[in-house]
Amino acid sequence: MIHKLYETGSLTAEELLDLIINRTPERRELLRELAEKRRQEVYGRDVFIRGLIEFSNICRQNCYYCGIRCGNTKVQRYRLTVDEILSCCHSGYKLGFRTFVLQGGEDPHFTDDIFVEIITKIKAFYPDCAVSLSLGERSYESFKRLREAGADRYLMRHETADAEHYSMLHPENLSLASRMEALKNLKSLGYQTGCGFMVGSPFQKPEHIVKDLLFIKEFQPEMVGIGPFMPQKDTPFGDKPAGSVELTLYLLSITRLLLPNVLLPATTALGSAQQGGRESGVLAGANVVMPNLSPTDVRDKYTLYDNKLSIGAESIEGLNALRKSMRDIGYEVVTDRGDAARE
Ligand code: 5AD
Repeated sequence: MIHKLYETGSLTAEELLDLIINRTPERRELLRELAEKRRQEVYGRDVFIRGLIEFSNICRQNCYYCGIRCGNTKVQRYRLTVDEILSCCHSGYKLGFRTFVLQGGEDPHFTDDIFVEIITKIKAFYPDCAVSLSLGERSYESFKRLREAGADRYLMRHETADAEHYSMLHPENLSLASRMEALKNLKSLGYQTGCGFMVGSPFQKPEHIVKDLLFIKEFQPEMVGIGPFMPQKDTPFGDKPAGSVELTLYLLSITRLLLPNVLLPATTALGSAQQGGRESGVLAGANVVMPNLSPTDVRDKYTLYDNKLSIGAESIEGLNALRKSMRDIGYEVVTDRGDAARE
C-alpha cells in the first residue's frame, strides 16, 4: 500500500484509515524513506527558511485550543508598529531570509490600509523577497487588496476537515464552511495557499485525519502546516494531552507522498514538542523551517501553547545553529524565496 502511495500519490479513504490506525515500525520507516526520497527528487537537500514575524497577539477570536484567544486574560498583549515590522525584515534580509511571514491574531487594529502599507513597503525594499500572510479569515475584497499590494502567499490552516469536529474546537461564530470558503477565495486570487491541521487536537479521531488528508489531496495547496496540538494552561483545553510527535512525523511523510511538490514545514510545535523534532521533521519529508524574527521582548508573549520554542535554532540569533543542525543530518539551509516546485 505504501508503494502504491509512492507511485500514484493517492490512496482511498479505507487505505488511509488502515495506514493511520495500524502503524508499525516497519510501515513508519518505509513511509519515511519513501517520503525523504520523493522530497529529494523534487527539492534535493535544500531547506527553505521563512522569517516569521508575529506582529500582534491581539485576537478577536476565541478558539478553544489557542493561548492568544480573546478570552485569555493572562496574556500580555502587544502589537508591533509598521517600523518595527520593517526592522524585523531588515535584520532577516541581512541573514539570508527571502520570505517574510506576517503572522498575527485577528487584530482589528490592522486594517487593509495598514497591511497594504506594510506589504508595499516590504516589496519596495526587498523586491526579491516573497511575502506570506497568516492573518486569519478576511473578506474576499480584503484578500484581493492584499494580493494586489503584492502578497504572494497565505497560510490558513483548515484545522480539521470534519464540520462536527470543527465545532468542538471553535466557538459558534466560526464554521468549517466559512474557513473553506476563505481558502477557496485565496486560491482563486492566485495566492500560493497553505492549509493544515493539528495532530492530536482534542476529540480528533483517525477518521477525521483521513478527511484532512483527502481534503489536502483534493485542494492541492502549495503549503501544508501540520504540527502536534500542545496544551496551553489558560485555555479550555489546558489539561488535554499533547498530540503525538510520532503520528505527526508519520503524517508529514504521507503528505509528502500525496503532494510531492508541497512546501512542508517542520513546525515550531514539532520542535517544541520534542528535542530534535525539527530535524526529525526534515528527515520525514519536510523542507521548510520558520525561525522567529520578532523582537526578543515580545517573543515569549506569542504563547499559542506552553513551552513554545522561541530561542536557539528556532530564532534568528540561532540561524547558525540551525544551519549546523541541518548540515549534521545532510541538509542545507539556502538563501532563496523557496517557491513551490511546478509540475
Ligand atoms: N497547539 C498547537 N498548535 C496550535 N495552534 C494554535 N493553538 C495551538 C496549540 N495549542 C496552531 C493552529 C493555528 C496556528 C497558527 O497555530 O493550527 O492555525
